[in-house]
Amino acid sequence: MKTFGRQKIGLIGVGTMGSAILEGVLARRLATPAHIWVYDKIAVRAGAFGRRHRVRVASSIAELLKNTDVVLLAMKPQDFSLFATKHKASFKAGQGVISILAGITTEKIAKALGKSIVIVRAMPNLGAKVGQSMTVLCGKNKKGLSFAKKLFVGCGKVVTLPEKMLDLVTALSGSGPAYFFYLIELLEAFGVKRGLSSKVAGILAIQTGLGAALLAKHSRASCAELRKRVTSKKGTTEAALQILSRGQFGKIFHQALAAAMNRSRELREK
Ligand SMILES: NC(=O)c1ccc[n+]([C@@H]2O[C@H](COP(=O)([O-])OP(=O)(O)OC[C@H]3O[C@@H](n4cnc5c(N)ncnc54)[C@H](OP(=O)(O)O)[C@@H]3O)[C@@H](O)[C@H]2O)c1
Repeated sequence: MKTFGRQKIGLIGVGTMGSAILEGVLARRLATPAHIWVYDKIAVRAGAFGRRHRVRVASSIAELLKNTDVVLLAMKPQDFSLFATKHKASFKAGQGVISILAGITTEKIAKALGKSIVIVRAMPNLGAKVGQSMTVLCGKNKKGLSFAKKLFVGCGKVVTLPEKMLDLVTALSGSGPAYFFYLIELLEAFGVKRGLSSKVAGILAIQTGLGAALLAKHSRASCAELRKRVTSKKGTTEAALQILSRGQFGKIFHQALAAAMNRSRELREK
């Protein structure tokens, strides 16, 4: 696998996602720690990450921008406008910016930070923490896209799509892990309510989810087909699925995804 060579990477916002992405890069030795700079509003957070991974901790955003070629923006979308107003002047011409901020468009980033920066948008997910993110990239600059691809391959799978798909992708795979956690929670709670220990119920629920996901990934059959195969006529699975269907689970779930998509759109108005 190719490394980033001499290019220096900066992370602004050492939270859940930013740290997971950099941990993937470091674990795969795509960059040397000396070539990575981090900064967070909460200095102890950046300091702890710096000590743990021996990367450089910037004492200001200006210092980070001065010393890096590509910056990963990983603060909350609501914090972007204030950040841009305060720090626009510190960006260098041609500086690469990879933004994982939900809802904030390339156009908005370009307007806020100045046109000469190279922008790639990325929508990863929490799977990055275990090297299993699903990341969607979009951008017009080939070099920028290829750099971002190397970065995110460090923590999972990468697909490139047009930017108009990003609100949808944010709802589907960006927020997606939470839907699966919720399903696991519900399975677990049912088991506990009917007499299992929470440890055993958790093992049953998680292993079932893992097996289903792996089967869906490796089988030639579609998920609909796999589901039909385990749903024998008048059997237990059919009894459960009939209740979900009567309660219009599919419709409700799609409404939930549409709400996430709308929220992604709203975030750029902030
Ligand atoms: N979490 C997910 O599953 C997920 C998936 C895909 C994309 N994303 C995107 O990833 C981004 C980060 O999400 P997250 O869950 O990792 O959030 P997080 O854990 O809250 O991390 C964001 C970090 O950035 C810091 N911060 C805020 N403003 C800053 C500034 N101006 N300069 C430096 N640091 C600043 C925050 O400090 P404070 O806590 O003091 O604000 C916090 O430490 C969001 O834009 C989100 O849309 C998240």
